[in-house]
Amino acid sequence: MLETRNLSKSFGAIHVTKDVSIKLERGERRVILGPNGAGKTTLFNQLVGELASDAGSIHLAGEDVTGLNVAARAKRGLSRSYQKNTLFDGLTVEENLGLAAAVATGHSTNMWSDSLAKPEVREIVRAVAEQVRLMPYLHARVMDVSYGVRRQLEVGVALATQPMVILMDEPTSGVGPEMSKGFHDLLNDLPRDLTLLIIEHDMDLAFDVADTITVLNYGEVVFDGLPEAARGSSLLKEIYLGSWENA
Ligand SMILES: Nc1ncnc2c1ncn2[C@@H]1O[C@H](COP(=O)(O)OP(=O)(O)O)[C@@H](O)[C@H]1O
Ligand SMILES: [Mg+2]
Repeated sequence: MLETRNLSKSFGAIHVTKDVSIKLERGERRVILGPNGAGKTTLFNQLVGELASDAGSIHLAGEDVTGLNVAARAKRGLSRSYQKNTLFDGLTVEENLGLAAAVATGHSTNMWSDSLAKPEVREIVRAVAEQVRLMPYLHARVMDVSYGVRRQLEVGVALATQPMVILMDEPTSGVGPEMSKGFHDLLNDLPRDLTLLIIEHDMDLAFDVADTITVLNYGEVVFDGLPEAARGSSLLKEIYLGSWENA
């Protein structure tokens, strides 16, 4: 569903990602682990097309999308849930979902209240709100909901574009352990044909959702495999102990 071949990016003399080759099957949930500065976010920027790669290629559902821009990749089903806040604070949860759905389904008009009234848009909003457990908050303005609910909404906005693949960059950062667990349960309940690529800093949380794990260190894939194998890996322990000591 999503594949990279020898993807690389340098900033000046620094190789931030180097020869990254990963392959996700349809419906696979893959977690990317790695210490701060490993190149995880840079890899995401390359995948969505915000950052041009120096070398290598990106394939989405069998199509080479390396030369396509962000919008063209999004149209082909690649969506990103942003770590940075990209929600409309003054609008309600429902309106935020509705706008994403309206744009994705080509129902957006100059009058956004008209866009939101479209049956197809309303249908998506309801389905997504149920999927990401936002039904109780539909009419709340984003500025009035908790940080955790915002994170759920960010996933909801991504889902409302009806993607095949969603990339999430540390979706539980800044959320307490209790809410993180709930968030991961929510991810596990998403439709199984949806492919997820998730950057997660917390190893234990990663094991909650991962079918497979990729570990980046200094921009290179140093582990790619099943969670059980990652858990026992002394290399991983070393990398993580190193990053904790430096934290
Ligand atoms: N636009 C940029 N210009 C220069 N250096 C960058 C840029 N973006 C990221 N970097 C550097 O690339 C390295 C990896 O960053 P990043 O991908 O954000 O890592 P991670 O998400 O794994 O913490 C860091 O050393 C960072 O300073
Ligand atoms: Mg990052």
